[in-house]
Amino acid sequence: MIVIGCSHGKHLARKIAKKATCAYGEVRQSFFPDDEQHLFLYGQVERRKAILVQSFYNAPDSCLMEVLLLAWQARQMGATSVALMAPFFPYMRQDRSFHLGEVNSIHALGPVISAVFDEIFILDPHLHREKTLGHIFSIPGHRLTANPLTAKAIKSLKNPLIVGPDWESYKWAQRTAELIGAEATILRKERFGARSVDVQFPKKIPVKGRHCVLIDDMISTGHTLLETIKKLKSSGAKKITCYAVHGLFVEGALEKLMKTGASVITTNSIPNPAGKIDVSGLFAEKLGK
Ligand code: R5P
Repeated sequence: MIVIGCSHGKHLARKIAKKATCAYGEVRQSFFPDDEQHLFLYGQVERRKAILVQSFYNAPDSCLMEVLLLAWQARQMGATSVALMAPFFPYMRQDRSFHLGEVNSIHALGPVISAVFDEIFILDPHLHREKTLGHIFSIPGHRLTANPLTAKAIKSLKNPLIVGPDWESYKWAQRTAELIGAEATILRKERFGARSVDVQFPKKIPVKGRHCVLIDDMISTGHTLLETIKKLKSSGAKKITCYAVHGLFVEGALEKLMKTGASVITTNSIPNPAGKIDVSGLFAEKLGK
């Protein structure tokens, strides 16, 4: 087996290879003047199972093209099979066509990935209307979760109130709360656009003087959590900590969240200054060594 660090996966691939005591290979990427990628795959791939590690942040389209090209290259070099490990996998939020002509991105992408790879591993995929990876990919899809790591990080807090900002977040907020026996509440969110949301408490909840721990799968523009923080503060929350698996933090989201006085912690599925929870062990365990 050989673990290969792609352009946006090296921060975890090296650790995964070390923890799973596997060989490590790396990709060198540069761009031609017209933006086409020029790739080299370095490593002993022949007669080995090749595991490409790529986290699709910042430049998802370029990351996708890169892994499609590299999977072909790994097979050319004699790999017995090629798997994709995606700490963050993109395009999962658009999982329906709501309007005529609107592309159902994840269903368009699923068959492409399934045609190129033998197996896929995704950390906390944004499965919303689709319930399993089997509905998206025709290859074996392995779903990993950072919930036990988040639970470990918060288990020593005294009487925290776990808050999920929207219905979809129950998979992270509610389930993490269950792991430590904490009280949880899931809010109602209405989204008006990519940068405009409103959140409401579904019922009266005891927030006053409490340490509120917000848990979601991802933070993109941060507006979901910014609105939630506003509501919790005006209801008298004493302290607010935000946890998310994937810290995309676009448009200065991390700075905006920090300005509210809340603490922000994510996993290192995407490298960022808040990425304190290391998920490399979760992937290494899947390699069965
Ligand atoms: C959406 O359903 C997700 O779980 C997140 O709540 C959302 O993607 C966060 O986006 P933003 O940070 O832009 O509000």
